[in-house]
Amino acid sequence: MKINIKSLVRPNIRNLTAYSSKEIPCRVKLDANESPYGFDITDEILKSIKTNRYPDPEAKTLKKIIAKNLRLNPENILFGNGSDELIYYLTTVFGGPVLYPVPTFSMYGIISQALGEKRIEVPLDDEFDLDTDRILYLIKKEKPGIVFLSSPNNPTGNCFSADRILKIVESTSLVVIDEAYQPFSSEKGFLPMLNDYKNLAILRTLSKIGFAGLRIGFLIAGKEIINEVNKVRLPFNLNSISQAVATELLKNPNTIKLHIGLITSERERLLNELWKTRGIKPYPSEANFILFKVKNSDKIYYRLLKKSVLVRDMKGVVNGCLRVTVGTKKENNIFIKALKEVMK
Ligand SMILES: Cc1ncc(COP(=O)(O)O)c(C=O)c1O
Repeated sequence: MKINIKSLVRPNIRNLTAYSSKEIPCRVKLDANESPYGFDITDEILKSIKTNRYPDPEAKTLKKIIAKNLRLNPENILFGNGSDELIYYLTTVFGGPVLYPVPTFSMYGIISQALGEKRIEVPLDDEFDLDTDRILYLIKKEKPGIVFLSSPNNPTGNCFSADRILKIVESTSLVVIDEAYQPFSSEKGFLPMLNDYKNLAILRTLSKIGFAGLRIGFLIAGKEIINEVNKVRLPFNLNSISQAVATELLKNPNTIKLHIGLITSERERLLNELWKTRGIKPYPSEANFILFKVKNSDKIYYRLLKKSVLVRDMKGVVNGCLRVTVGTKKENNIFIKALKEVMK
């Protein structure tokens, strides 16, 4: 019997394209918003890990440290294998329609589609801020089960106006503010508002501050939301190695703060350099990356790659734009030099 596997697949999955994350060889990797600074893992940490036992399902020790660093109650934290996994869980639990502004982080759309939920995409305004009138209108009309707001927003780099975000929080069901890039922002974020709004949840991740390989994201919300999301969480979603390494390394938050400081000051220098480069229009950023407009962005992307400098081509997301992650001073200098050469 001849079987067509595709015909067996649920229609919403059949039409889905897998998230593209293939490795492109390069000398300077500035495409994925990772931190250029990693950490050494000592033998003691590795030796403390028991390979025959399942990990602590609640990652209690790690939770305590994060709660202490962010002055939260551990009860209000739930871990995911990266915040991607938590986006999956939240969408599973609260369902659609799922509303989010565009352009934004692609996983809100991909996961909604995978789960067969209706997607409501609302274009940002000319300043890359939220179009509140349109969003409030669509909230009334479509009654979304969940609203995702990435602030600072990937790929535009800006924070949305706090008053616009609050207007949305006050008018709908669950609002998830994805603060993956908050550590790089001059704004204080929405953690202080959590007690005031029961329908507010916040996503944070360790991925952007030096731990992308460990896959640790966390949801911060009221106990009721945490309990509901915990129902769909896979039992051992955070492995022992990640738990042990992050627990140990987070004991020294000063090094992480130092790295964040280096990244934000390099971001400003990079922004200045981009402004000075003819034919480039960079957008201000509160994150660890910069979006910039350039003529023939496709060509520029490939010319940079030929020089072994990898950035992200935003084709289909913000046409005519590239996104560069802030690297070390040396990496940024290589990028700027290469960019100036390929622009000639
Ligand atoms: C806005 C936003 N949220 C979440 C993530 C994913 O984070 P994690 O590595 O924790 O899955 C990213 C990654 O690029 C992102 O840009």
